[in-house]
Amino acid sequence: MPIEWRDKLSVGEPTIDADHKMLIKMINDFEAQANIDFTRQLLSDTLKSLLEYGKAHFAREEMLQVRMGYLYHDSHRQEHRRLIRDIEAFARTYMTDASLELTPAVKMHILHFLRDWLINHIIDQDLKMKPFVMRQR
Ligand SMILES: [Fe+2]
Repeated sequence: MPIEWRDKLSVGEPTIDADHKMLIKMINDFEAQANIDFTRQLLSDTLKSLLEYGKAHFAREEMLQVRMGYLYHDSHRQEHRRLIRDIEAFARTYMTDASLELTPAVKMHILHFLRDWLINHIIDQDLKMKPFVMRQR
């Protein structure tokens, strides 16, 4: 099931929401393509793009937080570092084991990890910024 954007995911800042929508799209595209042909190349391209886009997004978000004087800027930055490490470790696990069979169960596990990474860690954490974003208006 693809992830659907809903208004309650909005942090109230259009550039950050646009980034989150893009990350959702990347995971949904991965799911759609993996349902047709689940390959190591697809998995490696997806993890690479998520890591690249995720890093750029985190940098944009950290800049915004500094600009608006967000109180938890420092712990949020630490959290971003941890999220990068998590996806790098995940990529290492999956990309270095050549004997790993890409079964439907493995696909489900990967999708579960990616959704959790994005929705529970990235978007839920970012929603704590919303009152600060609203105060800027
Ligand atoms: Fe974010």
